[in-house]
Formats: sequence, C-alpha cells, structure tokens
Amino acid sequence: MITTRGATRARARLHTIGSYVPERVLTNADLETMVDTTDEWIMSRTGIRERHIAADDQTTASLAVECARDILTRAGVGAMDIDVLIVATATPEYLFPSTACVVQERIGAMNAACYDSLAACSGFIYALGQANAYIEAGMAKNVLVIGAETLSRIADYTDRATCILFGDAAAGALVVADQAADSGFLGFELGADGTGSRELGINVGGSAYPASRPHERSDEFLFMNGREVFKFATRVIIDSTTRVLTETGLTMDDIDLFVPHQANTRIIDHAVEKLGIDPAKVVVNVDRYGNTSSASVPLALAEARDQGRLKPGDLVLMIAFGGGLTWGTAVVHYEPGDA
Ligand code: ACO
Repeated sequence: MITTRGATRARARLHTIGSYVPERVLTNADLETMVDTTDEWIMSRTGIRERHIAADDQTTASLAVECARDILTRAGVGAMDIDVLIVATATPEYLFPSTACVVQERIGAMNAACYDSLAACSGFIYALGQANAYIEAGMAKNVLVIGAETLSRIADYTDRATCILFGDAAAGALVVADQAADSGFLGFELGADGTGSRELGINVGGSAYPASRPHERSDEFLFMNGREVFKFATRVIIDSTTRVLTETGLTMDDIDLFVPHQANTRIIDHAVEKLGIDPAKVVVNVDRYGNTSSASVPLALAEARDQGRLKPGDLVLMIAFGGGLTWGTAVVHYEPGDA
C-alpha cells in the first residue's frame, strides 16, 4: 500500500533489474516478405536487425508477469512485500482495469497499490520517478516498476514506415527504501510537450474515437510522423541530458554507463557525438529488439548487467523519449541488492 501512516523518509535504491523477452523473432528478412522494404534500408535508417514478437497467447500482462517473477526471484523478495506495482505501458491489457491489477492478481502482490503509467516510451522513467518520490516521502518501501509492451498488437504490418520499428518485451526494476546516504537516484527530469501529441499515437479505443463507432481500419493502428519525432528525439536527448548533468553537478566523464531509449541507432549516434560520450559507455541493443517502448531502457540495463557492463557502484544515466511527446531522464548510483 501507499500510505503516509508511520512514514519514514528514506533514499530510494535501484535494487534489482529483470526482464522477459518472448521467443518468437521477426527478422528484416521476414519483413521483406510482408511489406515493400529491404534489410539494407532498415539497417541503414534504424540499425534494427530483428525484434521479438509475443506468441498469440501472450499479452502485455503475461510478459509483465514473467518479468516480475524474474525480478522478485533475483531480489529474494516476496510478492506480498511489494507496496506499489506500476506497469508502464502504451499497450495495456485493457483500457481499464489497469494492467498492473491483472499482474498483481497473477503474482500475488496483494499488499500493493496498482496502476499503469502512460507516457509511451518514457513511461518507465516516469514510473521510476514516482517510485523515488513515494520512497523519499516515506509512503512506500518496495516499489516494483515494470515496462511491458506488445507493440506488435498495434503495429500495422501493411505500413512499412512503422511496422519495422517495434518489438515486444517486458523489463523493469525493484526500487527499495534504504537509509544509506550515498545510494539512490541523484536526479530526474520528466517532461512533456503536448503540442506534439498528434505526432505519434493510436486513434481508436479512447473517448475521442470509441471502438464501437465506425472508423477506418488504419485508425486502429499506431501512427507516427517519423521525421517530427526524430527531430524531437535528437533535440531532447541532448538538452535533457545536459540539464540533468548540470543540475546534479556531474559531467559525462562521471557517468559510467549511458542507457538511451532504443529507438534508432541514428538518434543514439547523434547523442554520442554531440555529448562527446565515450562509445564504450553506451548501451545499444536496438539491433536485436527494435523499439520496445517503455521496456526499452530497463531491457538495455538488464542486458548490460548480464554482460558485466553494468557493475555495482556504477553511475548510470538513462534517457527515454516518445509519444506525448514526453521525455524522462534519470541518474542513479547503481547499488544492486542481488549482486
Ligand atoms: N523500407 C523502405 N523504404 C521506406 C520504409 C521502409 N521500411 N519506410 C519508409 N520508407 C521510405 C519512405 O516512403 C520515404 O520515401 P520517399 O522519400 O519516396 O517519400 C523514404 O523511405 C524516407 O522516409 P522517412 O520517413 O523520411 O525516413 P527517415 O529517414 O525519417 O526514417 C524513421 C524513418 C526510421 C521512422 C525515422 O523517422 C525515425 O526513427 N523516427 C523516430 C522514431 C522514434 O524515435 N520513435 C520513438 C518513439 S516511439 C513511441 O513512443 C511508441
């Protein structure tokens, strides 16, 4: 539960990272048989080689459940000890109830307050910010944050401009209260520019276009103005990183690992060049997973941990951007509880 009863202020610590990726792989060669595209075009414009796609009987909640089990097993924490469960997603199980409530029931986290965070690709960082705030205010001790997406369910596999980009996955983190002074999150920036709200989204299913009313088939799928989103992403990745570094009194030299949203290698390469980041500090896995929206940053963190690139004591800068338009940046001192 989230409660002010007996609240004791604490620092929030990034305790355990976990992930789940569905088995099925969709390669560029597969896409060549579905739409008018080529492996060469996709690789040169996006850096994506393949992406994972949920099985027919898998959903956003089932991916999130697998991820939650991975995190709790690694952490050695019981589901009943979770105070808050936030699922960050742009592809929820239903409009409501929240995906988090569906996950809660399946993993037995019956003491948790549960809701979804909808900030598209920035959703995981937004939810991390909420976890940090609850813990620093003493309102919760253990917060489970999962970014989970089945973007294959809203991708139009007749539209070559968008269907090549997205993949399915779930990844997340357990954030816990800890009194240790040097642990935790050093800074956040969560922002939005709603003037770009029509650049990226899905039309049908909400209040503006209920699914029950007549509509075009194309309106059931994700739409994106790729060029405008690209311009926004390349601007915000530089500006927000620079502001957060300034506000935390850090420079890029202090950062051990830079974990950007995995949308497109051209956006990441632009940031690496403009910010003068040592490429050895940059995590890139978009080539194998595509854009998994709110699962993207924690999936990259989990893989870096598995490869020994993310180590206890590292200072990590994560940044995500996406529909809304939104962005979220966080700097954290990584002190895992499962090391
Ligand atoms: N294969 C071959 N040709 C293609 C394909 C394809 N898959 N897709 C588009 N094209 C063509 C277009 O039709 C166009 O042809 P034309 O010049 O004859 O009109 C040409 O390629 C160039 O199209 P652009 O859209 O200008 O291509 P661009 O270089 O901008 O790359 C891309 C498109 C990859 C989508 C890019 O704009 C991008 O990465 N945008 C940002 C996406 C992003 O970061 N999203 C994050 C948020 S996602 C979320 O929040 C859920």
